[in-house]
Formats: sequence, C-alpha cells, structure tokens
Amino acid sequence: MTPEIHVTVDPEAAARAAGEEVLGLVAGAVAARGRASVALAGGTTPGLLYRFLAARGRTGAPWDRVDFFFGDERCVEPTSPDSNYGLARRTLLDPLGVAAERVHRMETERRLPVAAAELYERRLLAHFGPAGPRFDVALLGMGADGHTASLFPGSDALDELGRWVVAVRAPEGYEPAERITVTLPVLNRARAVLFLASGASKAAAVAAVLGGGREGGRIPAAHVQPPGGRVAWFLDRAAAGSIGET
Ligand code: 6PG
Repeated sequence: MTPEIHVTVDPEAAARAAGEEVLGLVAGAVAARGRASVALAGGTTPGLLYRFLAARGRTGAPWDRVDFFFGDERCVEPTSPDSNYGLARRTLLDPLGVAAERVHRMETERRLPVAAAELYERRLLAHFGPAGPRFDVALLGMGADGHTASLFPGSDALDELGRWVVAVRAPEGYEPAERITVTLPVLNRARAVLFLASGASKAAAVAAVLGGGREGGRIPAAHVQPPGGRVAWFLDRAAAGSIGET
C-alpha cells in the first residue's frame, strides 16, 4: 500500500488539509457504521489541526457519534502543559462540547506507567471487545528521529505483538520520559492513518520513511502500514524536502 502524500505551503495549510480529511473520514464512518473512533495524536503539531476542526464547529462532523482515544500519553497530570490529553481538551474537545463519556483519556497520573498501560488496555477492551481496537482514524505525528506515538527507534515496544498498550521510557532529550503508548498492532488495524509533520527538523525522517530507501526500516513511523488501510501524510514544504509536491 503506497502512502498518499500531501505537501502544502506551510503548517497551517497542512493542518487544514488534514482536517478536511478527518471530517470526511468521520462522516463516512458514522454513515457506514453509526459511530466512529478517532485516536488523537500528541506533541505540538496537532494543535493546528485540532483548532481547525474546532473552528468548523459542532456541525462540522457528527461529533456526537465519535469516541476519542489517544495514541500515547506522557505520565503527567492532565493539567500539565505536557499532557497530550490537555492539548486536545483545550483545542478540540472542550470547544466542540464533546461529552466526557466520549473521551477515553490515558490516565497516567498518580499510578505506575505499567499500571496505566494495563488500565488503558482494559478500557480499549471494554469499548472494542476482544477483537481489539480498530480506529476509524488514527492521527499521528512524527519526531525528528522518526518516532511516532511513543514508539521510539530501537525500543522493545516496536516488537510488541500481543499487548495493545505498553509503558515506555523515551530516550534522552524527549521529556517527559515516562509514557504509555499503543503498539504497532493497534496502529496497523486502523482504517485510516493520517500523519501530520511540519518543519525542516522532520525532513530527514520524512525522506527516510517516504523516500523508498533502506534506512526507512529503522524508523518507527515506517512500520505503520495497516493492511487494507489508508496512510496519508500531510506535510508542509519544509518537512517534505525532496518529496514531490502534490
Ligand atoms: C508525543 C507524540 C509524538 C509527537 C512527535 C512530534 O507524545 O510526543 O505522540 O509522537 O507526535 O514527538 O511532536 P511535535 O508535534 O511536537 O513535533
């Protein structure tokens, strides 16, 4: 499956293009199955996307039929500026008035990371059943080192095939270090994966993943290849580098 690549002039345009795609995917999922599940990305880049979606208002999509999950979370209070949930709540979930019971956050505060991972796995089991999570939309960012969610290069978590959620410790330079993350089997069951990456710092990792070279094998983001699912990249020119324009 060849990933779709959308290159735009700047991060705002990339966020708008990704946002239009999210609206369409959510509407399609609800039309087909009566409900949708969206896994939200962390970091800072998705903030532009979340604000775009919120600006389209509560009628932008059938949001009342959508359950929101998270691909990863740092082991911090939900009120911490480092919280992926906190970013989504401020820029998307509160502005859209999403009901609390539709928001399935990773409760990483005040418990050991392993316990938090087990708790979230139980939450996924309760929602999706024993077949496991199948997100209609999985939103992902990518670090300069090619990590996605909190799956970092060389991490044992990349080899996890049984568990849906694991505790990890990010490498030096990525703080907060303690996190939990969904595993590749979960991401590779998604119906659609949308990567959003902006800025020159991501260009090398983008080239490694999308450039067709052998070095892509070392890049965690390159291992997100859902069989029968869609993978689309939304890049600004700085992150796209030598990758073709759409
Ligand atoms: C996290 C994210 C992570 C993020 C990348 C890019 O919790 O940090 O899940 O995978 O998407 O690190 O982060 P930026 O958008 O801040 O560059």
